[in-house]
Amino acid sequence: MNSLEVYLRSFESYLDGHPFQGKPQSLTDAANYIMHLGGKRLRPAMVLMSCNAFKSNFEEALHAAMAIEVFHNFTLVHDDIMDAAPLRRGQATVHHKWNSSTAILCGDLMMFEATMFLQKLPLDILNEALTMFNTTAIEVCRGQQMDMLFETRNDVSIEEYLEMISLKTSVLLGCSFYLGALVGGAEKTNAEALYQFGKNLGVAFQLHDDILDAFADDPILFGKQIGGDILSNKKTYLLLKALNLADAKQLFELQFWLSNEPNDVNEKVQSVKQLFQVTGAKKEAEAEQQRYYSLALEALEMVTMEEETKKEFSDFAAYVMHRKK
Ligand code: IPE
Ligand code: IPE
Ligand code: MG
Ligand code: MG
Ligand code: MG
Repeated sequence: MNSLEVYLRSFESYLDGHPFQGKPQSLTDAANYIMHLGGKRLRPAMVLMSCNAFKSNFEEALHAAMAIEVFHNFTLVHDDIMDAAPLRRGQATVHHKWNSSTAILCGDLMMFEATMFLQKLPLDILNEALTMFNTTAIEVCRGQQMDMLFETRNDVSIEEYLEMISLKTSVLLGCSFYLGALVGGAEKTNAEALYQFGKNLGVAFQLHDDILDAFADDPILFGKQIGGDILSNKKTYLLLKALNLADAKQLFELQFWLSNEPNDVNEKVQSVKQLFQVTGAKKEAEAEQQRYYSLALEALEMVTMEEETKKEFSDFAAYVMHRKK
C-alpha cells in the first residue's frame, strides 16, 4: 500500500463509522447518498498527508479531514442545482434523485455537520481552525456567485476568471493542507507555504476540471455530463482564450453559440469543442495549468521537511494533474 492508499483507507473507515442520522429520513438519506457516491477524496487525503508530515499519528487529523470532505460534498450538492447538472460521480445528482428543496436543505445540513466535526479539534487550535475554515467557506460562496454572474456576461477577463476559480475551488485545497499542518503542530511558515502549494495546485486542478468537462474521453469514468460548461456558457479559460484567439469567422461562430438557444445541444457541444481546438485555446489552457502546477511546486520547495516527505506531496500533485475524472 502506498501512503495515499493508507490515508484513503483510514478516511473511509472513519466515514463508515460516522453516518448521518435523524429525521426526516429523506434528508439523512440524501446526505449519506452524496457522501457515499465515491469521489476521489482528494481533500481528506491532503489533510491527513499534511498532518503526517509533522506528526506520526495522522489519525488525529481525521475529524478535520471529515469536516473538509463534508463541506466539499455540500458545495457539490448546491453546485449541481446551480449548474443544472443531472449527473455526479456517475449517478443522479441529489436534486434530481429527490428535489431542489431537499438538495438545498441537504447542503445546509452538511455545512453545519462539517463544523460539528471541526469542533472535535483540540481547544488550543480550535479557534485558528475555525477561522481558516469559515474564511474559506465564505470565499467559496463568493467564487460561486462570480461563476454564476459570469454566465451571462460577455466581457469577463482572464484575471477575473482566475480570481473566480481561486475562490470557488483553490482556497479549499489550500485550507486542507493548512488544517492538516495545524493539527500536526507545524510551524506557521510551513503551514502557510503548504497553503500556497494547495492554492496554486487548486488553480491547476480547476483548469484541468474545465478541460475535462469538455474533453474527457471516458464519459463513464468522468461521471459528469460532458459539455455541461459549454451548455451553460461557463466563462472557462477555454472559452475566454478562444474568444481572444479567434479570427473573424471563428468569433462569429462562437458568438452564435453563446447567444442562441441550441436546437441540438450535442451540436453546440461538438462545435464549441472544435473551436476550442482550432483557435489554440485548449493548448493555452493546458499551458496555464502547467504554469500553476509549477508555481505549486515552487511553494512546496519553501516547506521545511524531509525530501522523502516532500516527494509524497509532489507525487500527489502529479496524480491530481493527470487524473481522468
Ligand atoms: C469537483 O471536485 C468540484 C471541483 C472543485 C472541480 P472533485 O473533482 O474533487 O470531486 P470528487 O469529490 O472527486 O467527486
Ligand atoms: C465547482 O466547480 C466548484 C464548487 C463546487 C465550489 P464546477 O461546477 O466546475 O464543479 P463540477 O465540474 O460540477 O464538479
Ligand atoms: Mg459550478
Ligand atoms: Mg458544477
Ligand atoms: Mg467543472
